[in-house]
Amino acid sequence: MLKLLSPAKLNLFLKVVKRREDGYHDLASLFQTIDLYDTLHFELADNDVLTCDVSDIPTDRTNLILKAADVFRKKTGIAFGLHVKLEKKIPSQSGLGGGSSNAAATLWAINSLLNRPVSPSDLRAWSSEVGSDVPFFFSQGTAFCTGRGEHVQNLEPLPKSQVVIVKPTAGLSTPSVFGQLNLSSLNPVDQISILTRFMEGQPSYVNDLEEPAFSAMPELRLIKQTLLQSGYDTVLMTGSGSAFFCLGEGTFPKDFPFVVQANFTNRSADSWYG
Ligand code: C5P
Repeated sequence: MLKLLSPAKLNLFLKVVKRREDGYHDLASLFQTIDLYDTLHFELADNDVLTCDVSDIPTDRTNLILKAADVFRKKTGIAFGLHVKLEKKIPSQSGLGGGSSNAAATLWAINSLLNRPVSPSDLRAWSSEVGSDVPFFFSQGTAFCTGRGEHVQNLEPLPKSQVVIVKPTAGLSTPSVFGQLNLSSLNPVDQISILTRFMEGQPSYVNDLEEPAFSAMPELRLIKQTLLQSGYDTVLMTGSGSAFFCLGEGTFPKDFPFVVQANFTNRSADSWYG
């Protein structure tokens, strides 16, 4: 039995660079893990069984946890079954990357339970077949990600920061938000200078998926305004939403179904998060 924590992520900035021939979009995004965790319990077994303590998470083969197990089997040819118990704290359809993080933790766990036949860099490369945001979790928690998300440049940890995360009841699916993106509104992006400015202490907290998310769900714009009015310096949607993170000092928001305080967190090179 192996227990791993699976952290949520924030996109501290997210620029859409262009639409690709394959329908995906090239992005340039600074990702950061936070200490809001799902907990996963893994055990090798004869067959695959996934159970979860909340009812709105699919436990069939559409779940990225079982997709990750399939990718591991396909790439290595090793036969195994996996029992996984998932305790969910990260809300789904929030842009906090819970499903992708669970998939990354699963690849790490299978490799550990099989006495590490695969290098972490191979795990990271394979993980992009499970989902665009999965490779990021093989960084040490702060990374600049480009391409579909599969090019991961690990960065030194950022100064310790506390955030408040707010998610309204309704969630957003990633394809529906990309579907609302107005490609002609995209400015040319100098990927390196936006990162450099951020790291030099001149951050621009920007997410090109906010406007499309606001088109898909107009009440989100109002939520952002309300949070800014309560005193926070920065309020930004993470990923394709519908969660926001708030930086600075503000009146702790109460009237939302999901509100938590969290901190930036990082892992060491040879151990998982938590
Ligand atoms: O890779 P993943 O399955 O997480 O992507 C879900 C959907 O999000 C894709 O089918 C695509 O519509 C959109 N997407 C995108 N560009 C990315 C990542 C996701 O267009 N870089």
